[in-house]
Amino acid sequence: MVLLRVSLVCLVATAIKAVPNANIKRQVTQLRSSYDFIIAGGGTSGLTVADRLTEAFPDKTVLVVEYGEIEYAPGVFDPPSTVWGGVGGFASFFTLPTLPNPEVNNRTGLVLAGQIVGGSSAVNGQFFDRGSRFDHDAWHELATAGDPSEEKWDWNGIFPYFKKSVTFTPPPASAVQEHGYTWDISAYGGTTPIYSSFPPFQWGDHQLLRDAWKELGVNDPVECNGGDKDGLCWIPVSSHPVTFRRSHSGLGHYAAVNTTRSNYDLVVKHQVVRVIYPNNNPKNGPPLVEVKSLIDGQLSNITSTGEVILSAGALHTPTILQRSGIGPDNFLNSADIPIIKSLPGVGSNFQDHSGPEVAWNYTTPLNVYPLPSEMSNPSFVTSATSSFNSIPATGPYTLSMSNSAIFLSLPSTTPNYHLIANKILSQLFSPETFLPSSLHSFPAIIQGYKHQLSVLASLYSNPHLPTLEVPFATGTSARAINLHPLSRGTVRLNLTNHLSLPVLDYRVGSNPVDFDVYIAHLEYVRKLINTTTLQALGAVEIAPGVERTDLKEAVKDSLIFSFMHPCCTAAMMPERFGGVVGTDLKVHGVEGVRVVDISVLPILPSSHTSATAYAIGEKAADIIIKEWRGGKGRGKGKGKGKGKSRRM
Ligand SMILES: Cc1cc2nc3c(=O)[nH]c(=O)nc-3n(C[C@H](O)[C@H](O)[C@H](O)COP(=O)(O)OP(=O)(O)OC[C@H]3O[C@@H](n4cnc5c(N)ncnc54)[C@H](O)[C@@H]3O)c2cc1C
Ligand SMILES: *[C@@H]1O[C@H](CO)[C@@H](O)[C@H](O)[C@H]1NC(C)=O
Ligand SMILES: *[C@@H]1O[C@H](CO)[C@@H](O)[C@H](O)[C@H]1NC(C)=O
Ligand SMILES: *[C@@H]1O[C@H](CO)[C@@H](O)[C@H](O)[C@H]1NC(C)=O
Ligand SMILES: *[C@@H]1O[C@H](CO)[C@@H](O)[C@H](O)[C@H]1NC(C)=O
Ligand SMILES: *[C@@H]1O[C@H](CO)[C@@H](O)[C@H](O)[C@H]1NC(C)=O
Ligand SMILES: *[C@@H]1O[C@H](CO)[C@@H](O)[C@H](O)[C@H]1NC(C)=O
Repeated sequence: MVLLRVSLVCLVATAIKAVPNANIKRQVTQLRSSYDFIIAGGGTSGLTVADRLTEAFPDKTVLVVEYGEIEYAPGVFDPPSTVWGGVGGFASFFTLPTLPNPEVNNRTGLVLAGQIVGGSSAVNGQFFDRGSRFDHDAWHELATAGDPSEEKWDWNGIFPYFKKSVTFTPPPASAVQEHGYTWDISAYGGTTPIYSSFPPFQWGDHQLLRDAWKELGVNDPVECNGGDKDGLCWIPVSSHPVTFRRSHSGLGHYAAVNTTRSNYDLVVKHQVVRVIYPNNNPKNGPPLVEVKSLIDGQLSNITSTGEVILSAGALHTPTILQRSGIGPDNFLNSADIPIIKSLPGVGSNFQDHSGPEVAWNYTTPLNVYPLPSEMSNPSFVTSATSSFNSIPATGPYTLSMSNSAIFLSLPSTTPNYHLIANKILSQLFSPETFLPSSLHSFPAIIQGYKHQLSVLASLYSNPHLPTLEVPFATGTSARAINLHPLSRGTVRLNLTNHLSLPVLDYRVGSNPVDFDVYIAHLEYVRKLINTTTLQALGAVEIAPGVERTDLKEAVKDSLIFSFMHPCCTAAMMPERFGGVVGTDLKVHGVEGVRVVDISVLPILPSSHTSATAYAIGEKAADIIIKEWRGGKGRGKGKGKGKGKSRRM
């Protein structure tokens, strides 16, 4: 016991010695007495905003409060130590179990989220794609519901921010020749130090899979990040184009600028507990920010004179709001939290990408090289590591997970798509049937869900809006990802311990039409096995298995609840539609608080979510900068003077 303690102390001491520079703040006593902007969460969106605000306003101070650590050692999160199952330097994930899901035989799932400076961009799979123009047009329609709006979140309104958010470098001619990469440079053009590129490596069976998809009739567009996303897509990875080291917001929006921005402070190992309004008056903003040190447990209040920006991600932003008394009133009552603002959408409207598996086996050995099975061969791994450490980097570690996927609309996958669309339309008569009973008392939530269902019914009929994604790199299994689920879950704080991990109720399949969609997608993906390309190798279906007739049960057996794209828990929709923020990202009905992260999406896009999180950060920063430059500043723009002209 004593020995153990001693060695623990040594470990801690070593860890602290490893800190290269004392500028990273670890205690509230190291902070200024107040800040113009306080950002809760140093993740993908949060650090993007922090970078832009400190750049635009040298005279205004910005504090980022981050729960996790900062990456000290270069390479801790590079592929060799994460994607292939190695252990990073220290805990850098939140690992969250989900509640048992009744519609899926009470199975539970597991969700990860980044807990590190850089957030999920520092730990993710580096697949760096954008949604379809139709996703964003739908987002704007849901966000405004016909109301006039200064800010446009449709495709034309967000595309410039997608471009601005990343520096894309085309691959060298050798990689183009070897793999056939295509891109359209007009989808890019940014110069910020967040990088994307195409890897110089693909596995030996990759071309085989491409050929099989093409045999099924899937077209292969030149570019999928320019708004038109339909077919077999080459996806950039979020890596530096020469070193192929991971690019993430901690590097590009903090480490790249922090030495020249004396107005940019970052405190790590602190949890934002809640925001506190003086006299519990939500018009008295900006509120104080209560933080808890994860080093010594101390609580402190930090003063913001400008505004508070919540960027803790889709799983944690809603719990900060709930702890602050901003959320569904019936839930806040049960949690014994005084109500500051009843806002039932907080932590509701929870969505993620999910999907069942199709798997096959080849009865003829593949005569292609290399296959990932080589990663269990020590000499292959040694050579892969040295290729990765060369400049320019090459070899399997540059691929991260994958940079290919098919994206197909429902009409492209099933002739019966209109039956599914009609089923959705028939739900408009009683949308509440599919929502948690705890939300039935909120007409705004029901209205908002009804609006979503009608928009989704038209997306499901659109021949160019993907509903199915199948990412691939190699191998003999494929996931049929449902890009636009109709089911809605909840994120709520834990009633026994408000500061512990949030409670996730995925409610996968609670809207039964999702099963029709999973099955349509599954039946489509199975056809891959029957292509002459794969049949030439004697491909045999293993999952769900040709003999398996009850596909709904097969879906339930293999469904993955989360592709780590939780979203939509502080949705941008009008308050009368159950929304949490407006198109200016301000939380409805309270002063001085915005949400800037992936929580603000009303519905999931046809993409993984990191590029969208960066674009949200870029657009949010522009909105905030414009407002403070224009002198509108505080809250809803009707500031009462207090602090208004301060340092402007
Ligand atoms: C394992 C994994 C794989 C993924 N793979 C891909 C992929 O391949 N491609 C892709 O595009 N997307 C992927 N994603 C999703 C994508 O990375 C995220 O959607 C996106 O980065 C979210 O950005 P965000 O700003 O909303 O939140 P985050 O980037 O998660 O940032 C939230 C930050 O807030 C901090 N925080 C949380 N609570 C508090 C609190 N109370 N106080 C202070 N700080 C707090 C967290 O530590 C974190 O740093 C993946 C995600 C994960 C977890
Ligand atoms: C799921 O759990 C609930 C509550 O324990 C139970 O009533 C139900 O029968 C279970 N369903 C299945 C399919 O096991
Ligand atoms: C900038 O960030 C790096 C970590 O990426 C850190 O080592 C350094 O101390 C920081 N510098 C300043 C001035 O904050
Ligand atoms: C934070 O502010 C609240 C409200 O004024 C107060 O009740 C609380 O004691 C303060 N916390 C600390 C640590 O000062
Ligand atoms: C798949 O094929 C391999 C090699 O031919 C064989 O060893 C394995 O048993 C097969 N698996 C199944 C589930 O058929
Ligand atoms: C809530 O927190 C308590 C105490 O930390 C824990 O035992 C419990 O499992 C949590 N509940 C849920 C639903 O996660
Ligand atoms: C695949 O081909 C077999 C044999 O021709 C057939 O029975 C099966 O229905 C086909 N499956 C699919 C998904 O097309």
